[in-house]
Amino acid sequence: MLGEQAPSFKAETTNGNLVFPEDYGNNWKILLSHPKDFTPVCTSEILELAKMQQEFDQLGVKLAIISTDELTSHYQWKQLLEDILVSQGEEEKISFPLIDDHNGRISNTYGMLHAWEDPTRDVRGVFIIDPENRIKSINFYPMNIGRNMEEIKRVVLALQVSEKEEVLLPANWTYGDDVLMKYVPYTQEELEKDPSLKEKYYKVGINLWYRKGDALTSMKGN
Ligand code: BEZ
Repeated sequence: MLGEQAPSFKAETTNGNLVFPEDYGNNWKILLSHPKDFTPVCTSEILELAKMQQEFDQLGVKLAIISTDELTSHYQWKQLLEDILVSQGEEEKISFPLIDDHNGRISNTYGMLHAWEDPTRDVRGVFIIDPENRIKSINFYPMNIGRNMEEIKRVVLALQVSEKEEVLLPANWTYGDDVLMKYVPYTQEELEKDPSLKEKYYKVGINLWYRKGDALTSMKGN
Protein backbone atom coordinates (compact mmCIF):
# COMPACT_ATOMS: atom_id res chain seq x y z
CA MET A 1 0.00 0.00 0.00
CA LEU A 2 1.18 3.56 -0.63
CA GLY A 3 2.81 5.11 2.41
CA GLU A 4 3.75 1.76 3.95
CA GLN A 5 7.32 0.73 4.62
CA ALA A 6 8.73 -1.28 1.72
CA PRO A 7 8.93 -4.93 2.81
CA SER A 8 12.53 -5.84 3.58
CA PHE A 9 14.16 -8.89 2.00
CA LYS A 10 17.53 -10.58 1.58
CA ALA A 11 18.42 -12.00 -1.82
CA GLU A 12 21.24 -13.08 -4.11
CA THR A 13 21.79 -10.80 -7.08
CA THR A 14 24.20 -10.26 -9.94
CA ASN A 15 25.89 -7.69 -7.67
CA GLY A 16 26.21 -10.07 -4.70
CA ASN A 17 23.98 -10.40 -1.66
CA LEU A 18 21.46 -7.59 -1.18
CA VAL A 19 19.36 -6.52 1.78
CA PHE A 20 16.66 -4.37 0.22
CA PRO A 21 15.84 -1.56 0.76
CA GLU A 22 18.30 -1.09 3.62
CA ASP A 23 21.50 -1.52 1.56
CA TYR A 24 20.40 1.38 -0.67
CA GLY A 25 20.58 3.76 2.29
CA ASN A 26 19.20 7.24 2.09
CA ASN A 27 18.46 7.16 -1.66
CA TRP A 28 15.27 6.95 -3.66
CA LYS A 29 14.78 3.40 -4.90
CA ILE A 30 12.87 1.80 -7.73
CA LEU A 31 12.15 -1.92 -7.64
CA LEU A 32 11.04 -3.20 -11.05
CA SER A 33 9.73 -6.69 -11.62
CA HIS A 34 9.58 -8.39 -15.00
CA PRO A 35 8.30 -11.75 -16.25
CA LYS A 36 11.28 -13.58 -17.68
CA ASP A 37 14.93 -13.24 -18.61
CA PHE A 38 15.78 -13.37 -22.32
CA THR A 39 12.30 -12.33 -23.48
CA PRO A 40 12.04 -9.48 -26.00
CA VAL A 41 10.05 -6.85 -24.07
CA CYS A 42 12.05 -7.42 -20.87
CA THR A 43 15.30 -7.16 -22.81
CA SER A 44 14.23 -3.86 -24.36
CA GLU A 45 13.29 -2.51 -20.91
CA ILE A 46 16.57 -3.39 -19.22
CA LEU A 47 18.56 -1.95 -22.12
CA GLU A 48 16.60 1.29 -21.81
CA LEU A 49 17.21 1.46 -18.06
CA ALA A 50 20.94 0.90 -18.60
CA LYS A 51 21.01 3.77 -21.12
CA MET A 52 19.17 6.01 -18.63
CA GLN A 53 21.36 5.01 -15.67
CA GLN A 54 23.04 8.42 -15.41
CA GLU A 55 19.68 10.22 -15.41
CA PHE A 56 18.49 8.09 -12.51
CA ASP A 57 21.83 8.66 -10.73
CA GLN A 58 21.32 12.42 -11.07
CA LEU A 59 17.93 12.12 -9.36
CA GLY A 60 19.52 10.12 -6.53
CA VAL A 61 17.64 6.98 -7.54
CA LYS A 62 18.96 3.44 -7.22
CA LEU A 63 17.40 0.67 -9.29
CA ALA A 64 16.83 -3.03 -8.59
CA ILE A 65 15.34 -5.58 -11.00
CA ILE A 66 13.57 -8.74 -9.91
CA SER A 67 12.13 -11.82 -11.57
CA THR A 68 11.49 -15.44 -10.66
CA ASP A 69 14.49 -16.59 -12.70
CA GLU A 70 17.55 -18.22 -11.16
CA LEU A 71 20.78 -16.30 -10.58
CA THR A 72 22.63 -18.30 -13.26
CA SER A 73 20.03 -17.16 -15.81
CA HIS A 74 20.41 -13.56 -14.63
CA TYR A 75 24.21 -13.70 -15.13
CA GLN A 76 23.84 -15.10 -18.66
CA TRP A 77 21.18 -12.55 -19.58
CA LYS A 78 23.23 -9.70 -18.14
CA GLN A 79 26.15 -10.73 -20.36
CA LEU A 80 23.88 -10.77 -23.40
CA LEU A 81 22.45 -7.35 -22.49
CA GLU A 82 25.93 -5.88 -22.12
CA ASP A 83 26.97 -7.38 -25.46
CA ILE A 84 23.98 -5.65 -27.07
CA LEU A 85 24.92 -2.36 -25.40
CA VAL A 86 28.48 -2.66 -26.74
CA SER A 87 27.15 -3.46 -30.23
CA GLN A 88 25.06 -0.28 -30.04
CA GLY A 89 28.12 1.77 -29.11
CA GLU A 90 26.87 2.37 -25.57
CA GLU A 91 29.41 2.74 -22.81
CA GLU A 92 27.00 1.90 -19.98
CA LYS A 93 27.19 -1.49 -18.30
CA ILE A 94 24.35 -2.97 -16.25
CA SER A 95 25.28 -1.55 -12.86
CA PHE A 96 22.00 -2.31 -11.08
CA PRO A 97 21.39 -5.78 -9.62
CA LEU A 98 19.21 -8.49 -11.12
CA ILE A 99 17.60 -10.20 -8.13
CA ASP A 100 17.09 -13.97 -7.93
CA ASP A 101 13.58 -14.72 -6.68
CA HIS A 102 13.25 -18.22 -8.13
CA ASN A 103 10.86 -19.40 -5.40
CA GLY A 104 8.68 -16.29 -5.82
CA ARG A 105 8.87 -15.40 -2.13
CA ILE A 106 9.69 -11.71 -2.64
CA SER A 107 7.41 -11.35 -5.66
CA ASN A 108 4.56 -12.75 -3.62
CA THR A 109 5.20 -10.33 -0.76
CA TYR A 110 5.15 -7.39 -3.18
CA GLY A 111 2.03 -8.64 -5.02
CA MET A 112 3.91 -9.00 -8.31
CA LEU A 113 2.45 -12.44 -9.10
CA HIS A 114 -0.98 -12.05 -10.70
CA ALA A 115 -2.46 -15.54 -11.01
CA TRP A 116 -4.65 -14.81 -14.03
CA GLU A 117 -1.65 -13.58 -16.00
CA ASP A 118 0.78 -16.32 -14.88
CA PRO A 119 1.00 -17.69 -11.34
CA THR A 120 4.79 -18.22 -11.52
CA ARG A 121 5.94 -15.13 -13.40
CA ASP A 122 5.97 -11.51 -12.28
CA VAL A 123 3.92 -8.91 -14.06
CA ARG A 124 5.73 -5.66 -14.81
CA GLY A 125 5.70 -3.94 -11.43
CA VAL A 126 7.16 -0.55 -10.54
CA PHE A 127 7.62 0.36 -6.87
CA ILE A 128 9.00 3.84 -6.20
CA ILE A 129 10.37 4.07 -2.67
CA ASP A 130 11.49 7.21 -0.86
CA PRO A 131 14.67 7.73 1.24
CA GLU A 132 12.75 6.70 4.39
CA ASN A 133 11.83 3.43 2.61
CA ARG A 134 8.15 4.31 2.26
CA ILE A 135 6.38 3.15 -0.89
CA LYS A 136 5.32 6.30 -2.78
CA SER A 137 4.04 4.87 -6.06
CA ILE A 138 2.97 1.44 -7.35
CA ASN A 139 2.18 0.54 -10.94
CA PHE A 140 1.56 -2.75 -12.70
CA TYR A 141 1.80 -3.19 -16.44
CA PRO A 142 0.83 -6.23 -18.52
CA MET A 143 3.42 -8.69 -19.73
CA ASN A 144 3.07 -7.81 -23.41
CA ILE A 145 3.60 -4.04 -23.01
CA GLY A 146 6.96 -2.41 -22.31
CA ARG A 147 7.03 0.34 -19.71
CA ASN A 148 7.74 3.99 -20.49
CA MET A 149 10.92 4.64 -18.50
CA GLU A 150 10.64 8.39 -19.10
CA GLU A 151 7.26 8.28 -17.33
CA ILE A 152 8.80 6.42 -14.40
CA LYS A 153 11.52 9.08 -14.18
CA ARG A 154 8.86 11.81 -14.41
CA VAL A 155 6.99 10.34 -11.43
CA VAL A 156 10.15 10.25 -9.30
CA LEU A 157 10.90 13.86 -10.20
CA ALA A 158 7.28 14.85 -9.49
CA LEU A 159 7.42 13.16 -6.07
CA GLN A 160 10.66 14.95 -5.26
CA VAL A 161 9.38 18.36 -6.39
CA SER A 162 6.04 17.93 -4.63
CA GLU A 163 7.76 17.10 -1.37
CA LYS A 164 10.47 19.75 -1.55
CA GLU A 165 8.31 22.61 -2.80
CA GLU A 166 5.12 21.57 -0.97
CA VAL A 167 3.11 21.77 -4.16
CA LEU A 168 0.83 19.50 -6.21
CA LEU A 169 1.53 18.53 -9.79
CA PRO A 170 -1.25 18.84 -12.36
CA ALA A 171 -2.13 16.50 -15.21
CA ASN A 172 0.70 15.88 -17.67
CA TRP A 173 3.14 17.92 -15.55
CA THR A 174 6.74 17.85 -16.59
CA TYR A 175 9.62 19.77 -15.05
CA GLY A 176 9.30 23.53 -15.64
CA ASP A 177 5.50 23.48 -16.04
CA ASP A 178 3.29 25.47 -13.68
CA VAL A 179 2.47 23.72 -10.40
CA LEU A 180 -0.66 23.67 -8.23
CA MET A 181 -0.78 25.19 -4.75
CA LYS A 182 -2.10 23.22 -1.80
CA TYR A 183 -3.49 26.38 -0.23
CA VAL A 184 -4.49 29.89 -1.27
CA PRO A 185 -0.98 31.28 -1.60
CA TYR A 186 -1.39 34.78 -0.12
CA THR A 187 -3.73 37.01 1.85
CA GLN A 188 -4.92 40.46 0.77
CA GLU A 189 -2.61 41.94 3.38
CA GLU A 190 0.40 40.04 2.03
CA LEU A 191 -0.46 41.18 -1.50
CA GLU A 192 -0.57 44.82 -0.43
CA LYS A 193 2.91 44.45 1.07
CA ASP A 194 4.27 42.52 -1.94
CA PRO A 195 2.38 43.22 -5.21
CA SER A 196 4.81 40.95 -7.11
CA LEU A 197 2.93 37.95 -5.67
CA LYS A 198 0.41 38.50 -8.46
CA GLU A 199 3.09 37.69 -11.00
CA LYS A 200 4.11 34.47 -9.26
CA TYR A 201 0.65 32.97 -8.69
CA TYR A 202 -2.61 32.90 -10.64
CA LYS A 203 -6.09 31.54 -10.00
CA VAL A 204 -8.07 29.49 -12.54
CA GLY A 205 -11.07 28.58 -10.36
CA ILE A 206 -12.11 27.81 -6.83
CA ASN A 207 -9.29 25.92 -5.10
CA LEU A 208 -7.26 26.04 -8.30
CA TRP A 209 -4.26 28.23 -7.68
CA TYR A 210 -1.17 27.82 -9.81
CA ARG A 211 2.38 28.93 -9.22
CA LYS A 212 4.34 29.67 -12.34
CA GLY A 213 6.86 27.00 -13.25
CA ASP A 214 9.71 29.46 -13.47
CA ALA A 215 9.29 29.98 -9.72
CA LEU A 216 10.50 26.42 -9.04
CA THR A 217 13.54 26.84 -6.85
CA SER A 218 15.46 23.72 -7.62
CA MET A 219 16.22 20.49 -8.61
CA LYS A 220 16.10 18.73 -11.92
CA GLY A 221 18.92 16.24 -11.98
CA ASN A 222 19.46 16.35 -15.71
C1 BEZ B 1 8.53 -10.32 -23.09
O1 BEZ B 1 9.24 -9.74 -22.26
O2 BEZ B 1 8.71 -10.20 -24.30
C2 BEZ B 1 7.37 -11.13 -22.61
C3 BEZ B 1 7.44 -11.79 -21.39
C4 BEZ B 1 6.37 -12.54 -20.96
C5 BEZ B 1 5.21 -12.62 -21.72
C6 BEZ B 1 5.13 -11.91 -22.91
C7 BEZ B 1 6.21 -11.15 -23.37
